[in-house]
Amino acid sequence: MTHKTSEISSEEAIEALREELRYHEHLYYVLDAPVISDAEYDAKMRALRVLEEAHPELVTEDSPTQRVGGRPAEGFRKVTHSRPMLSLDNAYNAEELQAWDRRVRELAGELPVLYAAELKLDGLSVAIHYEVQASGDARLMRGLTRGDGQTGEDVTSNVRTIRSVPLLVTEEKLRAAGMAGVAGFEVRGEVVMPIASFQRMNEERERAGQDLAANPRNAAAGTLRTLEPNIVAQRRLDCYAYFLLVGGEYAAAGQAASLEMLEKLGFRVNPHRTTCGTVEEILDFLERMEAMRSTLPYEIDGVVIKVDAQPTQLRLGYTGRAPRWAIAYKFAARAAVTQVLEIEVTVGRTGKLSPVAVLRPVGIGGTTVERAGLFNADEVARLGVRVGSWVRVERGGDVIPKIAEVVPKPEGESGIEESVEPFRMPDACPVCGTIARQAEGEVDRYCVNTDCPARLLQSLLYFAHRGVMNIDGLGEALIQQLLDSGLVRSIADLYTLNEEQLLKLERVGKKSAQSLLEQIERSKQAGLARLLMGVGIRFVGERTAELLAGAFGSMEAIAAAGREELEMVDEVGPKVAASIREFFENERNQALVERLRAVGVKMTAEKKQRSAELAGMTFVLTGSFPTMSREEAKARIEAAGGKVSGSVSKKTSFVVAGEEAGSKLDKAQELGVPVIDEATLLAMLEPKAK
Ligand code: IVH
Repeated sequence: MTHKTSEISSEEAIEALREELRYHEHLYYVLDAPVISDAEYDAKMRALRVLEEAHPELVTEDSPTQRVGGRPAEGFRKVTHSRPMLSLDNAYNAEELQAWDRRVRELAGELPVLYAAELKLDGLSVAIHYEVQASGDARLMRGLTRGDGQTGEDVTSNVRTIRSVPLLVTEEKLRAAGMAGVAGFEVRGEVVMPIASFQRMNEERERAGQDLAANPRNAAAGTLRTLEPNIVAQRRLDCYAYFLLVGGEYAAAGQAASLEMLEKLGFRVNPHRTTCGTVEEILDFLERMEAMRSTLPYEIDGVVIKVDAQPTQLRLGYTGRAPRWAIAYKFAARAAVTQVLEIEVTVGRTGKLSPVAVLRPVGIGGTTVERAGLFNADEVARLGVRVGSWVRVERGGDVIPKIAEVVPKPEGESGIEESVEPFRMPDACPVCGTIARQAEGEVDRYCVNTDCPARLLQSLLYFAHRGVMNIDGLGEALIQQLLDSGLVRSIADLYTLNEEQLLKLERVGKKSAQSLLEQIERSKQAGLARLLMGVGIRFVGERTAELLAGAFGSMEAIAAAGREELEMVDEVGPKVAASIREFFENERNQALVERLRAVGVKMTAEKKQRSAELAGMTFVLTGSFPTMSREEAKARIEAAGGKVSGSVSKKTSFVVAGEEAGSKLDKAQELGVPVIDEATLLAMLEPKAK
């Protein structure tokens, strides 16, 4: 069978790819059950991107490529909610829950009372609006924060970056959910930052010398209100849906049915849920959920119990701020009371002085807590913590426990006397004695001595860190010895160490000395991105380092680049560019880089060619083309970084079909490989301005 070129439509190829990507996104992000590898997914996404770049007129907002768009020009607009986003009343124990249940039954009268119980996720609530298009599919139009409950902020550009939120709900899914014929709908749910994303974000911030987020909820809230959608996309937020509204009214007959409809529409719904007829059943569910709490990949602070049936909900109605038909059972915070034995001041890599409370050791949720971060002088003052204070220490989703409040000394406890003096941050660095600097309007104080042993210790620890230069065996104790013995006064000194010197240190044997030297030697090949992170340029974390390395290809080129040139790199703004300039203009840093170069530390990276549009893609050519010969087409594809193969397989990115295309076209259709024509190929080959 042969085909005419007119049958080949890029539009169809694009639509087929989109459909496939949506399917895999749902499997991956909503159901946690992917069936293809990340690499295969990425290849399909790139194929779609290239096709869309060749056909900008075919790009639609609901395309999987369009999750990360431009920043909202005028900040976030205020929008009134279709119906108020209310809050919940709380219950803290079984008695309060029983009292609520009695009241519900009283008010419900003869109406049945069945409860739907689900997790109370610790994030922030959002309302996402969809409108049904002429095509019959529903498109995500708007995403709003709760705001004051009446009006929220329009954070659509950021909500779009959340992979578990569909940009498009097909007509088929609407029908499956029993929603055929609606003009639009609204989904309400909780946006959370998974604990792993939160920790990754904080590690990255720590490396870049930025302030850390206190817990996943604050991080999620801050992220959703960030004006840079590409940053939001990297943070990997997640969204669990819990309400479905049509025309501002609940769409289903009950809460459990509503969650099922949301699942059918393709939303992520939390699987830990149940229905209960009695308080005993609720208590049983609560117990199971609390026991499971620490194994969940996100934070929860309790369970929400909702009266299931719509009619009963309506009869119960609302108080001013909350529905009478729902209640939040709050788990007790994982906390303990203990005493502050001392307030230490530590010196970070950037010289920042941070107060840390040394605690009388106490167990919280299975771990022993001995220290709690106090962040800065303002925080100490806000809490009113002194040496000897009794405090409630909480362990949230974060690894670092924090002091929630000062409490009265518990009955029968004895300990040290509470200091009469409030805590004051020292005027000088506690380690080297240099006068600490406090910038105008900032709370933090810094030790400005770049040779300060405390800063050097932190810099070396960071340099050796697994995610940086990866020098295994170079831990805090050994670094301290190297500093004390005077063998190391700068990062570069690591590379001049020899076995004889190491053997003079306590507890260092021949074997460990040799292995350390090997590790140090090996680290020379870590590459430019790792090295950029390692030398400690403020605001340059992992991702920025990688982007810089890829864009410039060498340390020299980065050192020579002006601010404007630096800002050409994705994600490098004025603040980061200024910090990079400042680093390379400093003579000490220049000397450090030169010494590292002299000992052979690798300072280059593969420069990412922006022009290699078709890199990693495989094409199969079939039939004869209107303007190019097959040979010419092949040469041009290869020049743009693509590959040309003779036979169609699942790995083929595109089949380019001309007149009289043969069996390869049939094969492509059979395997679902997108088919394009010569015009599209030419458009793909055109260099794109970026
Ligand atoms: S229902 C009118 N369900 O808790 C009912 N809320 O304290 C209010 N939350 O603002 C929402 N998980 O941000 C509901 N499964 C869940 C929830 C949940 C977390 C949050 C939500 C709400 C707050 C109320």
